[in-house]
This record gives sequence, structure tokens and C-alpha cells, in this order.
Amino acid sequence: MKSIDQIALGGKKLFIRADFNVPLDEERHITDDNRIRMVLPTLEYALKQGASLVLASHGGRPKGKPDPKFSLKPVAERLGELLGRSVTLAPDCIGAETQAVVFTMKPGDVVLLENLRFHPGETDDDPEFARQLAMGCDVYINDAFGVSHRAHASVSAVTRFFKEKAAGLLMKRELDYFHRSMERPERPLVALIGGAKVTDKLELLEHLLRNVDKLIIGGAMANTFLRAQGFATGRSLVEEDMTSKAAELMEQARRAGKPFYVPVDAVVGKELDVNTTTQTVAVQEVPGDFMILDIGPASTLLFSEALKGARTIIWNGPMGAFEFEPFSKGTYAVMDAVADSGALTIIGGGDTGLAVHRAGKEADMSFISTGGGAFLTLLEGKTLPGVAALES
Ligand code: 3PG
Repeated sequence: MKSIDQIALGGKKLFIRADFNVPLDEERHITDDNRIRMVLPTLEYALKQGASLVLASHGGRPKGKPDPKFSLKPVAERLGELLGRSVTLAPDCIGAETQAVVFTMKPGDVVLLENLRFHPGETDDDPEFARQLAMGCDVYINDAFGVSHRAHASVSAVTRFFKEKAAGLLMKRELDYFHRSMERPERPLVALIGGAKVTDKLELLEHLLRNVDKLIIGGAMANTFLRAQGFATGRSLVEEDMTSKAAELMEQARRAGKPFYVPVDAVVGKELDVNTTTQTVAVQEVPGDFMILDIGPASTLLFSEALKGARTIIWNGPMGAFEFEPFSKGTYAVMDAVADSGALTIIGGGDTGLAVHRAGKEADMSFISTGGGAFLTLLEGKTLPGVAALES
């Protein structure tokens, strides 16, 4: 697979797929522009080489038709500010009017196509839609790691319409850090996995168990492991149908001689609310009318000890309901342990990335992935369709 710095770009028109799917508030202001910032090195590099840029992204999940609520206008504005040059938002991503904009571009021009998901062809990986996207462009660049787990037209079918295609600088960094953490890690390699459900991360846990030296489980998904050990978990979120699978995973770890950590205490609350009544209890003593909403201080200490000496740490999923202050301490304390470990630290995007940004600890981590689902897909041991399309 080529990367953008291995292609001559001067005077060429690049089609750059980025993942500008950023969170917006009710007034459609961007609340976290990290995904835009992370693509800037690619854009600045290409502009310096004398290229013109046609940028494409999805935003949210419009249902295959134009919907002003999902317009990429806020992205075009923010991108313009960050790049320090004007970014034209095209009226659509395909069609005569958009083509007219693309065909008249000169080196140094930047056009952002309107939301790709305004057309069903995007999610259908439709070759005809892809052909129209590619019209007028010379080189295809995929810098959209965050959506490369989806075989959608702009990351998959579109590549067939380009002779030259390459990974952008962000995509290259994402894959490089993945390689350093999972494929050729410095050991011990420890995975710290949280989040809500075992069901969503079952394949990932199975794959990790084969590769890591230690596995630490926190977040609501730990409740299912606690239940599998026979503990009463009150009103906590538990996937009853996954308890035997959870027991199997723990047994698998035991047979492989790999330490497998689950919480030993918890912060419990009556409701998921900042003003609710809370208690800190051992996992053996969760009251019937409470639910587990964070790991407790003993678990924090246990997990922090388990992280010591690691050379590589992969972290995906918060330890508790960190958005609610009474249940945020476990996630932030474990974050400190990850930051202080001296290991190569790779943080999976989504909620974990958000927690790190909120704590202002970005600089203390080796790399924070921009991918949520894409990062998990790699951790499951699978190939990303977007990467396969670049390689073919
Ligand atoms: C993400 O936010 O994970 C990516 O942008 C993909 O978005 P999607 O889950 O709507 O496909």
C-alpha cells in the first residue's frame, strides 16, 4: 500500500476521503474538532505539493437523502479556520452543479463535497455512485481511518476508478500504531477493555486473549463477568445470556496462564444521575436496589498495579459511566495509571478518546485513534475494507 508521500502530487486534483463525522450540539456547533485537526497534516502536505483538494466525508446517519440537519457546512467553516484558507462547500457530492465546481478548481483550491450519505449509493457501495464521485479527480487518498471498517462507496468501490491511490498521513499513523501495539508489540502487552456490552466486544476479547499477556476488564461489561462468578449484581446492566461465554473466556485465560482482571469493588448508585445516592462496596455486596456504575478504589489500585511494567498498553472503553461525575473517578484514575506507565499507549477512539480529551491528557498518550468501530475491527483481527481497497 502506498502512502501520499510516495506519489507526485504537483498540479493534480486529489479526491481525499476523510472522516469528518464530528459531534455537533443542538445549534450545530462542533463540540470536538479533533477528527478535523488530525487530517490537517495530510491536507497541508498536499497543498504544499501544489495539489487541489476535493474532500469527501459523511456526517451522521441521514437516510440516503439530503437533509439540512446533516449538512457539512459547520465542517467547511471549521476547516477553513484551521487551514487558514477558504474552503468551498459544494452543493452536493455528485451531479452537474458539483462537477462544475470541481472542474474549475485550480492548484491550492479546497472544495468539501456535501455529505456523502445524502445518497443511498454511498452505504450501498454502488459502483455508479462511486464513478460519479471520482469524476474529474486524478488521485485517490484515503485518510478516513474512522470509517474504513465500512465497505462504502467512498472508501471501497471508488478506488476502482483511480490509477493512483494511497493512504493519507493519518491513515498511515493509525495503521502504524496498530502494528506496533498488536502485530509486533513490545511485551508485556496489556489490554484494558471497558464499555457497556460483552456482546459488542466478544470477538475482540477472544482475539485479544490470544495475543495479549494480561487482560483487564472494567465498565458495565465487567458486570457480566462478575455474574458469571456467581455474584449478585443488583440492578446492574448484565447480559444474562452471555454469562457462560464470560465464564469460558476466564477459563480460557486461566488455561493459557494469562492474568485476567475484573473489578473487586464498585461504586454503585440508585440511578444513573449525578444527584443519586451512591455507595462504594465490594463486588460481593452490591445491594439489590443499586447498580454498578464505576469501578471502586480497590479495583483502581489493582488495575494500576497490573499495568505497571507493561511495555505496550491498548485501552478501549471507559471503566464506568464517566460522563456522570460520581461515576467518573475509576476511568480518570486508570487513565493516570496508563499515562504514567512509560509504555507505548494506544487509546481506542469513541468514548475512551473523549475521556482523554476531557482530562486534557492527550499529550500523555502515545496515540489516540480517531476510530471507534474501525479500531475495534482491527482489534478483532480483521482487515478493514478501506485498507483492502487501497492494497488491491
Ligand atoms: C464513526 O464515527 O465511528 C465513523 O465516522 C463511522 O460512522 P458510522 O458508524 O455512522 O458508520
